Amino acid sequence: MIPHPPPLSLYVHIPWCVRKCPYCDFNSHESRGEIPEKEYVDALVADLEASLPDVWGRRIQSIFIGGGTPSLFKPSSIDHLLTSIRTRIHVNAEAEITMEANPGTFEAERFLGYREAGVNRLSIGVQSFDDAKLASIGRIHGGEEARRAVASALEAFGNVNIDLMYALPAQTAEEAASDIREAIAFGAPHVSAYHLTLEEGTPFHRNPPSIPDDDAAAGMQDALESEFAQAGYEHYETSAFAKAGFRSRHNLNYWTFGDYLGIGAGAHAKVTFLERVRREMRIRQPQAYMNASLSGKPMREAHEVEDVELPFEFMLNALRLIEGFPVSLFTERTGLPIIVIEPQLEEGERAGLLERDHHGGGTLGVGNQWIRPSVKGRRFLNDLIERFLPDAVAAKPVIPIANAYSRDSRRP
Ligand SMILES: C[S@@+](CC[C@H](N)C(=O)[O-])C[C@H]1O[C@@H](n2cnc3c(N)ncnc32)[C@H](O)[C@@H]1O
Ligand code: SF4
Repeated sequence: MIPHPPPLSLYVHIPWCVRKCPYCDFNSHESRGEIPEKEYVDALVADLEASLPDVWGRRIQSIFIGGGTPSLFKPSSIDHLLTSIRTRIHVNAEAEITMEANPGTFEAERFLGYREAGVNRLSIGVQSFDDAKLASIGRIHGGEEARRAVASALEAFGNVNIDLMYALPAQTAEEAASDIREAIAFGAPHVSAYHLTLEEGTPFHRNPPSIPDDDAAAGMQDALESEFAQAGYEHYETSAFAKAGFRSRHNLNYWTFGDYLGIGAGAHAKVTFLERVRREMRIRQPQAYMNASLSGKPMREAHEVEDVELPFEFMLNALRLIEGFPVSLFTERTGLPIIVIEPQLEEGERAGLLERDHHGGGTLGVGNQWIRPSVKGRRFLNDLIERFLPDAVAAKPVIPIANAYSRDSRRP
């Protein structure tokens, strides 16, 4: 039994982009012609209304409008969306409300409008400040446009995240470090630095460019971690670095296995009830999603997470946190005693991938206050996480966890 439900967030997916990037496996579609903003926001609102009975009485602690490219939407559409959300569910007054924006369109002039609509944090998809690198990954913008977008985001919001990717085609360690130094020099309070992955089904997977090998990429990760440390950023999750007080509350809720509603084409949701955890997924194709809404057909599919899957799902998220998690959180979120994963925890420790703070003494997990990945565990995170994958789950892959901007859990 899960004694009380965890904090609740809301993810909103906007599925259109100007052009599809060759490395991207998110549910994003090239916008040919005008985007049906009004119809889509209406569908989002209907989607939210259908979800309300699952979360009666609960409050939203953060909202993330992700994509795709949400900044293709006019400020008036975002305003209508946020107002419609607030009139249907209680959103905490101090809720973090993040929106993603891409350089290279006409977003900069819209930033103030988003702020007026209630967005209070902007996440800019810079990827690199280097023109040649941006061209090599098929981005529609160059370094100068990225710089302009970051400068105007910082001016309008202050609370800004910059997304960067490293281990780009033919990238040297010095080039990767230079991108990090530039993001730091801007003074952005949060930076996410992702290792470029060649995702199945993408053009980059079919025709791989020449990218740095694993050792070179690990060297880049070490170098960028030390750049951030010297500049006073806290490394708090595999790919996330923040100045004090600027950790992403929305993403932390994913990583601590909190609940989230997910509305929009292809969006995932996780909702905890007393005796079960439920996951949902929406229709992925934007037009089909809107059609279902118009004709009153179901827009989502749901399944209950089996008890046997819960430890893996919890670990997939919580082990991304550099400081790990308190043992009590495992039970609070899964309803299971920590003893169910004691053999895996011991094995992980023996392999040097996991550390436990044995303060308080005890055996079999009792008195182990904190569990966290070791430095080696962070480098071989997949190896560590797979240890919590029961055979039954290995045979039947679980749905990837929703958009948290991490390789394993970023998908909307
Ligand atoms: C949901 S994406 C969308 C953000 C925005 N549309 C953009 O591309 O600028 C969020 C971030 O995931 C990262 N990302 C996307 N595909 C990736 C991949 N194959 N490998 C590593 N990071 C990736 C990029 O840094 C991107 O900014
Ligand atoms: S990486 Fe971003 S801009 Fe490129 S296709 Fe994916 S969501 Fe769209």
